[in-house]
Amino acid sequence: MQTIDCIRQRRSIRKFTKEPVSHETLEKIVEAASYSPSWKNTQVVRYIAIEDPSLRERIAKECTTGFVYNAGTLEAAPVIIAVTVIKGRCGYEKDGSFTTNRKDTWQMFDAGIASQTFCLAACELGLGTVIMGIFDESLSELLNIPEDRELVNLICLGYPAEEPSVPKRKTVEDLLTYK
Ligand SMILES: Cc1cc2nc3c(=O)[nH]c(=O)nc-3n(C[C@H](O)[C@H](O)[C@H](O)COP(=O)(O)O)c2cc1C
Repeated sequence: MQTIDCIRQRRSIRKFTKEPVSHETLEKIVEAASYSPSWKNTQVVRYIAIEDPSLRERIAKECTTGFVYNAGTLEAAPVIIAVTVIKGRCGYEKDGSFTTNRKDTWQMFDAGIASQTFCLAACELGLGTVIMGIFDESLSELLNIPEDRELVNLICLGYPAEEPSVPKRKTVEDLLTYK
């Protein structure tokens, strides 16, 4: 698939078939995502693949109280990817000071780039994904995320069982100005 087609054709998928995702396929996706750009090439993004059905069920039931709409998607996905970052590196100078006044928020930026690269690579391999930003804070505890890491977002991953239409996009005129 041409990159431009992959960018256009990727949709957020919230219904999945029961077909499992092989480790070989998942590792290909993560390898592709490793080529994402990152702050001073710090590469702070780490992925946790949650396959255990009982843990996925607990996440869907216990960690979606703020937005129950996500529960069905989390239950349906054969794999939930927890996207985490190693704290204290991205946005920092070697002496521990911040490089810019955006401080350590660059780690969110890097997690976002990596997540989109992950989703595009998955799309290329015929898989569906949806990035999730809404989940209860209790999820970090449930996943035993260590102190030096931050859980940024989830990505539900699996073979698509739906073909959603394209949500309306803004026009180039809306998006682009020249000076
Ligand atoms: C940072 C971020 C957080 C998101 N959180 C959720 C979420 O919690 N639940 C959900 O169903 N979709 C979530 N989405 C998916 C968006 O709703 C989706 O990308 C948007 O509607 C455009 O649809 P498309 O991805 O098919 O182009 C999120 C997307 C992003 C980038």
